[in-house]
Amino acid sequence: MERHLKWIVPVGTAAIGLVLGALIFGGGDKPHDEVLVAANPLFSGGDGGSLQGMQVTGVRHEVHDGESIQAAVKAAKAGDVIAVYPGTYHETVYIDKSSITMTGVVREGRYPTLDGEKKLNDAFLYSGDNITIENFKIINYKGNGVMGQAGNNFVIRNNLIHDAGVYGIFPEFGKNGLVEHNVLSGIEDAAIYIGMSDNVDVRHNKVYDNVAGIEIENSRHALVEGNYAYNNTGGILVFITPGLPIKTTYDVIVRDNFVLDNNHENFGAPGSIVSGIPAGTGILVMAADDVVIENNIIAGNDNAGLIVTDISSVTNVASDPESEPNPDRVRILENVMFNNGNNPIGELKALMLTQLETKGPDIVDTGAGSDKCVMNGARYRAYGLGSYRPCRADEISTATIASMTLSAPAEPFVIAADTQDGYERIVGERAYYGVCTGCHAYGVRLIGPPVTEIQAIYEDNPEALAAYIADPVKVRENFPEMPPQDYLSEETRLAVAKYILSTTNTDGR
Ligand code: HEC
Repeated sequence: MERHLKWIVPVGTAAIGLVLGALIFGGGDKPHDEVLVAANPLFSGGDGGSLQGMQVTGVRHEVHDGESIQAAVKAAKAGDVIAVYPGTYHETVYIDKSSITMTGVVREGRYPTLDGEKKLNDAFLYSGDNITIENFKIINYKGNGVMGQAGNNFVIRNNLIHDAGVYGIFPEFGKNGLVEHNVLSGIEDAAIYIGMSDNVDVRHNKVYDNVAGIEIENSRHALVEGNYAYNNTGGILVFITPGLPIKTTYDVIVRDNFVLDNNHENFGAPGSIVSGIPAGTGILVMAADDVVIENNIIAGNDNAGLIVTDISSVTNVASDPESEPNPDRVRILENVMFNNGNNPIGELKALMLTQLETKGPDIVDTGAGSDKCVMNGARYRAYGLGSYRPCRADEISTATIASMTLSAPAEPFVIAADTQDGYERIVGERAYYGVCTGCHAYGVRLIGPPVTEIQAIYEDNPEALAAYIADPVKVRENFPEMPPQDYLSEETRLAVAKYILSTTNTDGR
């Protein structure tokens, strides 16, 4: 536990190392004058490895209705708690330091509410390690409810997020995290989007009326457990997006979830990847490997209960030669599936008609990938399970795995002081991974245009690109506006501009 709160204080370039979050945003350090008691007692039942019951060592700051949450974050030091009282707050909160607990105080059902009034982009953006965000109500933002930008050891729980724009909860490029007991609805892309992250548990959340309920994307070692996903366009999606620097999704357990009636009309932004998801999709596994589907109740999804497919099935996306396109070693264990496929659409409808069927299946596999297994396959109405073998005795349960989170916290990211030439590139790469890839991929349109298009426009002019991202103007008719990245330091903006102009698809790991 000690280790968890330790952090390296940046004292200029002469120090042994620099913590990048602090490097981007600066900030000094002085001793605390108050001592604090509180820990995070909420919802610590069950496993969460190193993340449950994080101890809090610093002072407690209180924010009351009419005051600024950001001002409290500015005043806070590593280890501090910021307690936000019920009221309505119209702001974007940037948490640019490590070991901060943002805790909403809920009184008689009244939450501290962040209301973006459809003018602000994001409610919370954090870039530090060891961040907790809990007990907030977040409504009417244009971008993200909570976005993590390369922060490790995060806990995001017990928040109510409605109509927060593109993503509800979106840790990007983080390691070791817990996303639990949140309720999210009305999100235009993914309600919970685990992007390019490792060792994350997504547990006991309720997601409904979104385009995508829960998305595990270009991420490894994830547990999606005990969630209730209903009336989304797609309930739970585990897949690879091509063109991102992390090229794989594997080792994912999807178990004990209710995945019901995910038949919402697709209201994703035209051109976005999720806009290609057919309404009526319960669970989709696309190009991801070592995915276990266990003990879920999957019913009432009108296209299909479970779709296992390769990367080419989302038709508006070019494939990535760097990503292996097939879903390998998928395991379908005990599940309850019924009443799916009442109204298959698109390709699946055509496929079923070739079988003289008008009803879609509980499970459809489009045939790509190898070494897949199913338990009691005959009990499902299924199409395309011909290549599956029965699961072996050692494969039939994941009960020994309680959590995918780490037993000790992930180390903070540090740039060694002796890094000379590569320094700017490391800063640029980290900002690209942690921020830009939320919307930009290499040769593929995501929320924003492909990196290749950006490179063609700016070529040898990183200064102009850095100026654009600080204060973007609307360029393209058929894209949303790009939100300003002016919270990044000038140094970081130039570093990421140089990075994005020089990156290739094969830079990724
Ligand atoms: C929340 C989504 C989002 C994030 C995050 C984002 N962008 Fe964008 N970006 C967009 C969108 C949308 C556009 C298209 C805007 C338009 O054409 O009006 C765009 C356009 C651009 C352009 C093209 C400008 C032009 O002149 O055509 C550049 C360059 C760019 N982004 C760089 C970046 C960099 C660098 C980052 C990371 C620091 C970044 N973006 C992060 C959404 C995003």
